[in-house]
Amino acid sequence: MNSDTTSEQSHSMATMATMATTAGYGEAAAALVEQYESVTFEEVHREVLQLFPSRPASVLDIGAGSGRDAAALAARGHRVVAVEPTAELRALGRRIHADQDIEWVDDALPELTVVRGQERRFDLILLTAVWMHLDAGQRSAAMAALAGLLATDGQVILSLRHGPVPEGRRMFPVSAHETIDLSRACGLDVVHCSERDDPHGRRAVTWTYLALRPTPQS
Ligand SMILES: C[S@@+](CC[C@H](N)C(=O)[O-])C[C@H]1O[C@@H](n2cnc3c(N)ncnc32)[C@H](O)[C@@H]1O
Repeated sequence: MNSDTTSEQSHSMATMATMATTAGYGEAAAALVEQYESVTFEEVHREVLQLFPSRPASVLDIGAGSGRDAAALAARGHRVVAVEPTAELRALGRRIHADQDIEWVDDALPELTVVRGQERRFDLILLTAVWMHLDAGQRSAAMAALAGLLATDGQVILSLRHGPVPEGRRMFPVSAHETIDLSRACGLDVVHCSERDDPHGRRAVTWTYLALRPTPQS
């Protein structure tokens, strides 16, 4: 890596730090919804399908986007809260999945002020393609928030995106290693870790899937 590359990277990291986590989503919402809905819940979560609850459970889908996963989980009989901070995505998601009983909430990581204020606990917390929007301090705070929202025998399933940052978005490099360290510090154990290609077929993009559960108390 030469010094130009290094200074370009630190410049873009500095720019990222000033952007909103949701940068680029509102203006592109219609096209993004079409993209998100072009793949199924089963395709996206192929690596972890066996980990989803088989009995009716309370689910928190954070960064729900178009509501593809929230709708699939509601259709399976789960009680689903969909957190989505981008107003345009929330409105479109509500409309296209109006046939499913989904509670849409305007809230955002890392604070999750609204959901945490309700003092609820969830059997499953899902974060699909969201974690990379948070900087290091936000990821640390967000992991603590997730641990506090999880039922004693609950589970967090999250995917980490690796690859180039689309123009106008705020994304940081994220790794399984760092995420596992953060989760352990919050009393969560890793019960699944796998890698996969991109469900949308982008060759430069790959994913890590993690599932986390509270460390059993002895
Ligand atoms: C790549 S999209 C993924 C959407 C959906 N989960 C899916 O898999 O199709 C990332 C989503 O994270 C949301 N998001 C961005 N910043 C967020 C934050 N701080 N808290 C929660 N969601 C956030 C965006 O609005 C967007 O809906």
